[in-house]
Amino acid sequence: MRTVYVNGDYLPETEARVSIFDRGFLMADGVYEVTSVLGGKLIDFDGHAARLDRSLRELDMQAPLGRDALLDIHRELVRINGIDEGMVYLQITRGSDGDRDFVFPDPETTPPTVVLFTQAKPGLADNPAAREGIKVVGIDDLRWARRDIKTVQLLYPSMGKMMARKAGADDAWMVEDGFVTEGTSNNAYIVKGGRIVTRELSSDILHGITRAAVLRFAREAQMAVEERPFTLAEAQAADEAFVTSASTFVTPVIEIDGVPLGDGTPGPVATRLREIYLDESLKTAI
Ligand code: PDD
Repeated sequence: MRTVYVNGDYLPETEARVSIFDRGFLMADGVYEVTSVLGGKLIDFDGHAARLDRSLRELDMQAPLGRDALLDIHRELVRINGIDEGMVYLQITRGSDGDRDFVFPDPETTPPTVVLFTQAKPGLADNPAAREGIKVVGIDDLRWARRDIKTVQLLYPSMGKMMARKAGADDAWMVEDGFVTEGTSNNAYIVKGGRIVTRELSSDILHGITRAAVLRFAREAQMAVEERPFTLAEAQAADEAFVTSASTFVTPVIEIDGVPLGDGTPGPVATRLREIYLDESLKTAI
């Protein structure tokens, strides 16, 4: 059985408890991070810790634990649960003052709730989706306007995945005012004439930690990068496309709304970027 972390304690998953009045449960008033584990080590830990701090600040929540304490908990859970490949999920909510109220509780008397657990995913680095590519469909982006904050309000992204599944696809790309924002749980890219195009950072999208690393590696490899919005039609006419996230690294997209990209197989740029990302991020894994 998994050992999980709740508010200072390491417990068997069946003994971990959070109040029914927790604001994460009642109001999705919380933030999260997902950090991948390869070879028993954490990928891009400092990027995730920095984004967590930013998410907390944007919601007027105090950081209950510093970077070093968080790292210790991540490592301890990876060790106890024997994770070689997988993820560590971390969630911090505004806690519970024992009732339901829209007004935030006083942080002096209501501490945040901190939960971490591991997910074992053997084959995370070498999986069929990476080799074969995924199919996506376009859907309207009906999320709130602060997508740069990594909150636990994941109902619409979940609905998006279900819409994709119903349409016989693997994932959905969300579209707002005619332009792709991002995938339901990843950042979206197209490649045309060797140029990588991805939407620029703003409150319209999550500032992906994998995105930052992949764009840095692409530029270091002398690949051209354009940060600007693109339409689904432009994406369908692209040579290739891909998504990035902590749980999928770089994953090729081979079809958009039923239209195959290029020859309908993973493209060379996505394939190369995945190799570079895995190689380089393993070097700095901790
Ligand atoms: N999702 N955009 C959205 C909407 C996301 O939910 C995610 C990550 C990303 C990619 O960010 P990063 O590279 O930092 O993982 C972009 C995580 C993996 C999840 O919800 O499971």
